[in-house]
Amino acid sequence: MKIRRQKALTFDDVLLVPQRSSIASRNDVDTSTRLTPKIRLYIPLISANMDTVTEANMAIAMARAGGIGIIHRFMTIDRQVAQVQRVKRTEGFMVEHPRSINQNEPISRAKQMMSKYEVGGLVVKNGGDILIGLITQRDVRLAPDVSAPVSSVMTPPDEILTAKPDITLKEARQILHEHRLEKLPVVDDDGKFIGLITAQDILKSRRNPHATTDEHGRLRVGAAIGVRSDDVDRAAALLAAGADVLVLDIAHGHADHCIRMVEMLKNKFPDAQIVAGNVASKAGAYDLAMAGADAVKVGVGPGSICTTRIVTGFGVPQLTAIMDAVAGVQESGRDVPIIADGGVKQSGDMVKALAAGASTVMIGSLFAGTEESPGTPIIRNGQKFKVVRGMASLGAAMGRKAVEKGDDESAESPEDWDKVVPEGIEAVVPYRGNVSEVLHQMVGGLRSGLSYGGARNIPELWQNAEFVEITPAGRRESGSHDVDKV
Ligand code: XMP
Repeated sequence: MKIRRQKALTFDDVLLVPQRSSIASRNDVDTSTRLTPKIRLYIPLISANMDTVTEANMAIAMARAGGIGIIHRFMTIDRQVAQVQRVKRTEGFMVEHPRSINQNEPISRAKQMMSKYEVGGLVVKNGGDILIGLITQRDVRLAPDVSAPVSSVMTPPDEILTAKPDITLKEARQILHEHRLEKLPVVDDDGKFIGLITAQDILKSRRNPHATTDEHGRLRVGAAIGVRSDDVDRAAALLAAGADVLVLDIAHGHADHCIRMVEMLKNKFPDAQIVAGNVASKAGAYDLAMAGADAVKVGVGPGSICTTRIVTGFGVPQLTAIMDAVAGVQESGRDVPIIADGGVKQSGDMVKALAAGASTVMIGSLFAGTEESPGTPIIRNGQKFKVVRGMASLGAAMGRKAVEKGDDESAESPEDWDKVVPEGIEAVVPYRGNVSEVLHQMVGGLRSGLSYGGARNIPELWQNAEFVEITPAGRRESGSHDVDKV
């Protein structure tokens, strides 16, 4: 037995000392950062891979704002793949696998597909890869005979303008405008269909100039996996669907099976970006970095819905955990950013996590109350709330058992309930409207924080940061006090 140090600290134990600053305006600071060495974000925020926080809607909103969302893994592989695909299809200067239909299918099928997938048109193919037409809502809306084949109403190939795969965004814009077109199919020299450029997608990409996008202008998205043998199949399917980063996420990431899984994934998928966690010590971060992780996720028990520390007695207060993990990756000599995961209650906590050396911050509960999180709001005493649950809570554990049996929905049997030892709780959080509003407040706080820190960007904040420990009186003084709140 040993006592490692007398004191470990968390966000509420400290404040940052204001530094001399040459920054005249909050707009003069740069909030961008790296999720992994290969993925840049305009804002250092990640929505957590929790089933009450991140599915496609949240991931889309996060990426549009310049952050990223990690789709949780508590669903079948097929469903998680579909979620990733939804994000990847939302925007992008070229959609690579747009919905398509065979020329011999009936018009009714085309109508059904357009409504099911919420698209304004379909590509018509010959059963192979050759484009033979386009069909849009306009072609089918008033069609008198919906049993007639799609080929009878589609725009035929000789009337379709196509582009070559190396077309630039600027050229595509010009062609669409000059010919007043909505859609421009991309076809290679052999006539093989490659993808579809749409006017709507070009407009969307201009609306969100700081969005987190890949080389094709598609929104970036991450997806969580576990460490079981079928998680390798899950990883392969998610990467094939276009996931930009895999988050190997287990409660105790400093474990042999997690380290082996990181090594195996990096070996099997050398181009994939792999985040691993969670750890709360220097040795944990060191071992995951040495195993090949592209980022290390830090946090054992700081989360709002976590009871790991109560149930097991293990954990490290988050500020110290971040600092120790930073020291661990530095010792590894590898370039591995740190993700601070859990315990962020307000923007000041995020600034402290970054100042302690994290490159990004993962958030659960604070985003669970937004419109984009899964689930609908509930009303209690006339006020709107949304549900958040720990992924090791009883409800989530039972849902997981159901997924393991092949269902997506909870189908628990009473005897299973006794076997679960929960390390998380279920709760409600106030409904907060769109996540973009929460992000606006968070990023505003970060901009101010950088200027108080005399830092033009996050790496300068790491250099300049000076923490002071505070007393309960100092903490009381930090909030509003001795006034009646209106
Ligand atoms: P916040 O504070 O942002 O934390 O809500 C989100 C993070 O909490 C972790 N998490 C859990 N930890 N038991 C735990 O001990 C759980 O049931 C649980 N569910 C989520 C996770 O790291 C998440 O990102």
